[in-house]
Amino acid sequence: MLALDGTQRSDPAGTETQRPGLTPQHAGAPLIEVSDLSVRFGAVTAVSSVSFSVAKGEVFGVVGESGAGKSATARAIIGLLPPTAKIAGSVRYKGEELVGASKARLRQARGAQIGYVFQDALTALDPVRTIGAQLVEVLNVHGHVSRRDGLERAADLLAELKINDPVRTLKAYPHQLSGGMRQRAVIAAALIANPELIIADEVTSALDVTVQRKVLDLLLGVCAARGAGVILITHDLGVVAQTSDRVAVLYGGIVAEEADVFSLFDNPRHPYSGALLNSMPRLGDQGVFEPIPGSAIQVFGDLRACPFADRCARVADDCRAGVPAPFKEGGTTYRCLHPLEDTA
Ligand SMILES: Nc1ncnc2c1ncn2[C@@H]1O[C@H](COP(=O)(O)OP(=O)(O)OP(=O)(O)O)[C@@H](O)[C@H]1O
Ligand SMILES: [Mg+2]
Repeated sequence: MLALDGTQRSDPAGTETQRPGLTPQHAGAPLIEVSDLSVRFGAVTAVSSVSFSVAKGEVFGVVGESGAGKSATARAIIGLLPPTAKIAGSVRYKGEELVGASKARLRQARGAQIGYVFQDALTALDPVRTIGAQLVEVLNVHGHVSRRDGLERAADLLAELKINDPVRTLKAYPHQLSGGMRQRAVIAAALIANPELIIADEVTSALDVTVQRKVLDLLLGVCAARGAGVILITHDLGVVAQTSDRVAVLYGGIVAEEADVFSLFDNPRHPYSGALLNSMPRLGDQGVFEPIPGSAIQVFGDLRACPFADRCARVADDCRAGVPAPFKEGGTTYRCLHPLEDTA
């Protein structure tokens, strides 16, 4: 398989599509460093001690079942959690601490430095204003631009997102566009102020499958062209396989495993990663995939044991005695006392 920069890549999931993501040659100092991040909503602990970092030019996948804490992590990074949420830990953007930063600073960081597209993005557009007015407004939050310059930049970006008639689209109201076009307009709003980091949270789940991949590829293509870093949140391991450089597998609010995408697919170490891979249909398999028994956990209060213990085939007494500390082995970090065999 040929990546956009001409280098040869293979697809760890064995699906034959092209990875539009970036290659490590772009990677450098971390853009964002998340350390020991925890998020609580009252008694519910959504995120427990999550750490990872993302470099410029890197596509970092975050994968996990519903309720794993993916969106809570993303919203904590950009300060968009409700005031009732309690956040602990650190989020550094290019060394600057964002946890506890002023509302004004966070508002400025959103869009200009960190662009984001959320799950419910289609409702993010104002139904009574044109796409053009909304895109120019994003630019104006981050420094005044004339309407004309703003519209020009917006039109260029829509063209980059392969919208056929950008000028007409800028004059349109959201309801006049198809779902796929509206989604591209929302993506344009996230990208227009040229942020260096993009957080894409299930950006395409509201669209039908054929449109989904196209829109995601367009988003990643624009990020790649700009060397931006991407946090790509999805519950779809196939998408991660085709797009991400590294991946964090979230379960019960912890990072069960973090690895480069090839290691994760070839040599998963956390039993949850293994179970997730087995539950995924792969090309070439004769339909042999096993759903993970049991259902996802909701954590109340402090996490005191491995959150996967109740569903894990390898569970032992010590799994319930405390949360396993992160264990680093080569490029992989996992939190498990009884990992899957190392096949590397
Ligand atoms: N505003 C909130 N108030 C209370 N609990 C919340 C809130 N937002 C999230 N939670 C809880 O926090 C946990 C993590 O939720 P989160 O939305 O981060 O999951 P997710 O991994 O994004 O799931 P999905 O794949 O369904 O989007 C869940 O148990 C959820 O019920
Ligand atoms: Mg979510």
